[in-house]
Amino acid sequence: MATSTLPIFFFFMLSSGIITCMIVGVYGDHTAPHFSRKHSYHSHLPNLFLERDSASPIPPPAPASTPSSASPKPLVYHVTSYGADPTGKADSTDPILAAISDALKGPGNGFLMEGIVNLGGARVDLDGGNYLISRPIQFPVAGRGNLVIHGGSLTASGDFPDNGYLIDLSPASNNGSGYNYEFVTLRDLFLDSNFRGGGIQVINSLRTNIDNCYITHFNTQGIQVQGGHETYIRYSYLGQHITAGGDPGERNFSGTAIALSGNDNSITDVVIFSAATGILISGQANTLSGVHCYNKATSFGGTGIYLKTPGLTQTRIVNSYLDFTGIVAEDPVQLTISSSFFLGDAYILFKSINGVVNGVNIVDNMFSGSDKGIEIVQLDQSNRAFNQIDQVVIDRNNVKGMKLKATVARGSVEGNGSSWTTDFNSVLVFPDLIKQVQYTFITNGRSFPVHALRNVSGNKIVIQSDVAVPASVHVTADQGGVGSFSS
Ligand SMILES: *[C@@H]1O[C@H](CO)[C@@H](O)[C@H](O)[C@H]1NC(C)=O
Ligand SMILES: *[C@@H]1O[C@H](CO)[C@@H](O)[C@H](O)[C@H]1NC(C)=O
Ligand SMILES: *[C@@H]1O[C@H](CO)[C@@H](O)[C@H](O)[C@H]1NC(C)=O
Ligand SMILES: *[C@@H]1O[C@H](CO)[C@@H](O)[C@H](O)[C@H]1NC(C)=O
Repeated sequence: MATSTLPIFFFFMLSSGIITCMIVGVYGDHTAPHFSRKHSYHSHLPNLFLERDSASPIPPPAPASTPSSASPKPLVYHVTSYGADPTGKADSTDPILAAISDALKGPGNGFLMEGIVNLGGARVDLDGGNYLISRPIQFPVAGRGNLVIHGGSLTASGDFPDNGYLIDLSPASNNGSGYNYEFVTLRDLFLDSNFRGGGIQVINSLRTNIDNCYITHFNTQGIQVQGGHETYIRYSYLGQHITAGGDPGERNFSGTAIALSGNDNSITDVVIFSAATGILISGQANTLSGVHCYNKATSFGGTGIYLKTPGLTQTRIVNSYLDFTGIVAEDPVQLTISSSFFLGDAYILFKSINGVVNGVNIVDNMFSGSDKGIEIVQLDQSNRAFNQIDQVVIDRNNVKGMKLKATVARGSVEGNGSSWTTDFNSVLVFPDLIKQVQYTFITNGRSFPVHALRNVSGNKIVIQSDVAVPASVHVTADQGGVGSFSS
């Protein structure tokens, strides 16, 4: 039996200088163990309250952390203390690198992953300034973790190397063993690449957070992730040009906002407002959620999300907004696109590399267009035809001003005769592929005719009866969803 634990209530009473603490645990299942004082169920409460007898008085609280000359300094490295110029006039590369170098040399609290020194949450604080830099902020050594860089702007100067990244989480020196970094957080940053290179590069690192960043004027990648895993990109804005749509220069937008060449990363609640490609994925098990791409319209040659992982895609795109720019998937194998909105004739394109589409769900999306007859799912078979198609479900999408395509189609045909043909070519995604048919034959004629499915060819289904009867025939055709098997 499942134990349902109801909320635990804490009462604090203050009377004549004495704090009394009473803990009342309420359980749905009375066989559950009694609430123990030694158990910190609510670890955010000070232990003071949990470890004290309910009626005993509490001594006056100790003053919060008495400063003393003996106590260690907090591990916050202010770049302005190193001489960085927050007005963005003087070159601040060396002072910022010096601050980071000191942070990386700071005292360790043991290790995270093997070989990764735990810096204990040290912070490099950009002090709310805007700093001009002429070289990438690249960590001098590998093997560090639990570090935050936050709170300011970096702008590439005119002589910044055009293949560089403003912040580069690849070590300047590395002997190649293990991961480079673990749990590095880049937060509250404005990064202006000044059309000289990219914004952030993360190489072979674990558990990197990129949080609340605005990355612009890149001409390579806004964020590039290679190897490692679990880079989480959240609540961020990326655009090559600062624009809010309808930009006269949109045809010339270039670059890629986010390139993930690795596994197990996540992009959540991110807006991409300018770039030739919004997100380019060449790795597995990445998740995209709450992504809004209006980086460059497909009609101008842009792509919202490009999945370049033919044969093993393992990507989920949910709750996203593809705004005049669509999704391209090369030979998708295990791909889910759901609960997303496609606006402005944006569509999904499967591009054949070796002719494989397997384990694909495109369900419960909305598509909206301008009545030009653009199909919501399209095939690019210019390399070769798709010929290994299995477990593909494209269904339950709703469409306004575009042409519905699906892998499941339903049709009806009525008449007085002995042959009923339904043609599903206008709906079915794949040409000449029907794996399953169900039909219902309804006649109110006097006779009970013998009827049968006689031909399935070219996405047309023919049902025939032995004698002519007035009948209506309802047919469902499936190109091969879940549950199709042969024995
Ligand atoms: C590689 O770097 C690690 C961590 O800095 C160090 O412990 C190890 O000895 C180095 N190995 C070689 C072969 O230099
Ligand atoms: C786009 O680029 C082309 C070729 O470089 C150039 O001729 C054109 O003026 C540009 N358009 C805009 C709007 O910037
Ligand atoms: C259906 O067609 C048959 C033969 O062509 C004819 O005899 C019959 O009257 C028709 N029934 C109806 C309801 O039209
Ligand atoms: C099924 O229909 C196709 C196209 O009309 C035709 O070429 C084929 O011979 C038919 N097959 C059978 C078994 O009748």
